[in-house]
Amino acid sequence: MKGIILAGGSGTRLYPITKGISKQLMPIYDKPMVYYPLTTLIQAGIREILIITTPEDAESFRRLLGDGSQFGLLLDYAVQPHPEGLAQAFIIAEDFIAGDAVALVLGDNIFDGHSFSSALPQCRRPGGGIIFAYEVSDPQRYGVVEFDAAGQALSIEEKPAQPKSSHAVVGLYFYDGDVVDIAKSIRPSARGELEITAVNEEYLRRGALQVKRLRRGDVWLDTGTVDSMSEAAAYVEVMQKRTGIVIGSPEVAAYHEGFISQAALRELATPLLKSGYGDYLLAAAED
Ligand code: G1P
Repeated sequence: MKGIILAGGSGTRLYPITKGISKQLMPIYDKPMVYYPLTTLIQAGIREILIITTPEDAESFRRLLGDGSQFGLLLDYAVQPHPEGLAQAFIIAEDFIAGDAVALVLGDNIFDGHSFSSALPQCRRPGGGIIFAYEVSDPQRYGVVEFDAAGQALSIEEKPAQPKSSHAVVGLYFYDGDVVDIAKSIRPSARGELEITAVNEEYLRRGALQVKRLRRGDVWLDTGTVDSMSEAAAYVEVMQKRTGIVIGSPEVAAYHEGFISQAALRELATPLLKSGYGDYLLAAAED
């Protein structure tokens, strides 16, 4: 299975912060935002990952992440010249996907929770599409799933003014190789974007969409606004200090997946000791 991180967009909801820097390179407490979704893909056991950025920010992402070999990964880069929708990622990535199954994660989404991360490897053979729903207090900001009494998904709507439920679709999607043709077949929405919701509606129409509900105790945070970004940073700080366990570390996730050795993890820690981040890596290597 391949993985894609979509880190494009103009970040206008964070202006003026994002006038000079990509949103997904902003810090969430002690690490860049993109570390969190990258960690999620690694926890799903995915090694070949394409990072899609704006043309202006591509170089900064390369400087941060390189070719991925330090994490035991194969990282590749592509650009989305204009923010024309999440589903466009599959068209941009057509050659990279090469007919395989693919996971897409949004560069500003943060996931945490043991039951969530342990469920990820099962998504690697999606047989259609697999998406996740999470109960939120403000569903009108998201894609919203409506379920029938038996828990089957009935409909999905993008940012409905009158949401039919409080179940938001999170920014992590697993699809089979059909997704490229589906993305090519959908038309732009009223806001001029190829909506991921239209892709999900097509899988639902085919009877090939699984909607997994995240459990209580699982955590999903998006970081697209000033408030949600500072709340996410507070969450990471509190949890890391309380438990001593790092959240959103590609180094530690790669070690747990067996992508890098214990010696390699220790080596990665050395230049990171001054900031304190390296201490978490050393602790994980001893665990
Ligand atoms: C996008 C999707 C939406 C999804 C959300 C998750 O919203 O369109 O369906 O619920 O990501 O973060 P956007 O970031 O475009 O507002």
